[in-house]
Amino acid sequence: MCERCKGKYYITTPIYYPSDKLHIGHTYCTVATDAMARYKRLQGYDVMFLTGTDEHGQKIEDKAKEAGVTPQQFVDNIVLGERGVLDLWKLMNISNNRFIRTTDDYHVAAVQKIFRKMYEKGDIYKGTYKGKYCKPCESFWTESQLVDGKCPDCGREVQDAEEEAYFFRLSKYAGRVRDLLVNTDFLEPRSRVNEMVNNFIDPGLEDLCVSRTSFTWGVPVDFDPGHVVYVWIDALFNYMTALGYCNDRYDDLDKFWPADVHFVGKEIVRFHSIIWPALLMSMELPLPKKVYGHGWLLLDGGKMSKSKGNVVDPYILAERFGVDALRFFLLRSFPFGSDGNFSNELLISTINTDLANDLGNLVSRTIAMAQKYFGAALPETQQEDESLDAPLVTLASQLRDKYEAQMEKYAFQNALAEIFKVISRANKYIDENAPWVLAKAEENRPRLARVLYNLLETVRICGGLLTPFMPATSSEIARRLGGAAMDWDSLNRFGLLPANVAAVAGPALFPRIDMEKELAALEELSKPEEAPLEIEPYSQEQVDFDAFCKNDLRAVKVKDCQKVKKSDKLLCFTLDDGTGKDRQILSGIAKYYQPQELIGKTLVAIVNLPPRKMMGRESQGMLLSAVHTEKGQEKLQLLMVSDEIPAGAKLC
Ligand code: MSP
Repeated sequence: MCERCKGKYYITTPIYYPSDKLHIGHTYCTVATDAMARYKRLQGYDVMFLTGTDEHGQKIEDKAKEAGVTPQQFVDNIVLGERGVLDLWKLMNISNNRFIRTTDDYHVAAVQKIFRKMYEKGDIYKGTYKGKYCKPCESFWTESQLVDGKCPDCGREVQDAEEEAYFFRLSKYAGRVRDLLVNTDFLEPRSRVNEMVNNFIDPGLEDLCVSRTSFTWGVPVDFDPGHVVYVWIDALFNYMTALGYCNDRYDDLDKFWPADVHFVGKEIVRFHSIIWPALLMSMELPLPKKVYGHGWLLLDGGKMSKSKGNVVDPYILAERFGVDALRFFLLRSFPFGSDGNFSNELLISTINTDLANDLGNLVSRTIAMAQKYFGAALPETQQEDESLDAPLVTLASQLRDKYEAQMEKYAFQNALAEIFKVISRANKYIDENAPWVLAKAEENRPRLARVLYNLLETVRICGGLLTPFMPATSSEIARRLGGAAMDWDSLNRFGLLPANVAAVAGPALFPRIDMEKELAALEELSKPEEAPLEIEPYSQEQVDFDAFCKNDLRAVKVKDCQKVKKSDKLLCFTLDDGTGKDRQILSGIAKYYQPQELIGKTLVAIVNLPPRKMMGRESQGMLLSAVHTEKGQEKLQLLMVSDEIPAGAKLC
């Protein structure tokens, strides 16, 4: 280890499940981890920051099938493709040292070894998984996954079923895990401990089903073909395989394990604070020092998720507002341990208030005045009147320690609040000392230089402590201060900036944003893209006019409509065609309509087609409908005409 190093520090962020593109909620978690990793590097630690992707499981297998590609192609596209996971982390200036994909060969082989080891030890055993089975879908469901007791996919009846599966003896470790949670600081914030103990451990921990046979996209159990390892077992061990556990790809296990902290979202605290330690206990491995369960970013009070269609695109936000502004906003506006409500208004007002007004103005005004009144460099000065400067100098000198205390608790919002207290104080100091008035009298020049020096030095300290949050902005501030030192040891020492510092002016760090205009622009951008419609190619063949007129098209009223038994497609219509006698037409449109919604509607039918038998019933004509394809899906709408048109009216 190098002499200056304070030690090693291993931090991880949950590996992303690439079933969809990332949203701002995922970005939040990774940006927070990045800020912590950069903070530890700033302090002088030798940091390992791991992130990656968790690529197995049924959902990905299903999505790939839907998209007509292999699961590997599907995840490759989301991870490596344009505007994919890697692109986003690069854009967001994420400083991970390593990126793991659970489809990497070394990880897959390691998971197989781990599974076998636990099996040989007797902590994994073969049993039967009892659940519900939907025959047509060939899917296993647990009781809680059912919707109204029926298959959540097709809505049909399910039956009791049993599947052979492997189980992990989670129950064996319940006591030790409980002790870990209750009697140590392993899991934070503390409120999450009560949740885990009361909701999961105390009601009784059951053994965990850790293999599946109903799909294939996973790590195969090498001693029992047909079984794949449960995705969470595969995923959790990424934290160790990425360091070289059970593989030769890396050799950092001794150096970095156990992890100093796993940052995880609150919904996966259970996996990290109960299952993960139990797995490690079984493998007789050291436990991570801490799991921190952060809150969610909410939109309109609900969790963001692709399925809700309310996702906020981090690319759009970073491109419009800048990467540093977005990173800053995420950690300044919400307490890390609790949920926070995301809104574009809050984002814009945070940028305008903190970054444009407070930080941006302080930097520009200070440097502009130093240049205007002293040209290239300030003259050397002495502190003359302590009482005038003490409030600012003391606050800036104490800032690093206060900031450190908050950062050590992962209280990013509070750490930033400490910095902004000093920035506000510095802006007030400008008004109190009015450098433009001092500049009017020659005898005040030493005082003027002192005031400006104190301001530049405050900017240096604040800029340095902002590095973990806004790395590019901090480097720019250092450059404008003539390449000022911003290393950790210099950040609690007021007066380190060379007296003759040559400050360099530059454009506004954060231009003010016009709230109304920007909200309107964002609104426009969030409108869903109009997907091009696909319509049937036009026929090149011409029809004889008289032949066309032979089609007898009539308005018909739906008297009754029923699903045809044993058919997924057919609806049977009883129609009033104006003749006084009911007409029956069968139509293959059951997937587009519920029968009841059509009763009473006025439709259009060709009534002079020869009758046809379908599923044993006679169909006396055909109902007209409009068909097109949208995003690869066929859409159909029955042609409906005004109800004022009487049954039997001829259409020509
Ligand atoms: N693949 C698992 C993690 C395995 S770790 C061994 C997973 N992936 S995820 O893609 O669904 O989520 C990744 C992280 O993003 C999780 O920590 C999750 O909590 C976080 N977030 C997802 N939506 C979020 C918000 N709306 N707000 C904050 N964090 C959110 O879980």
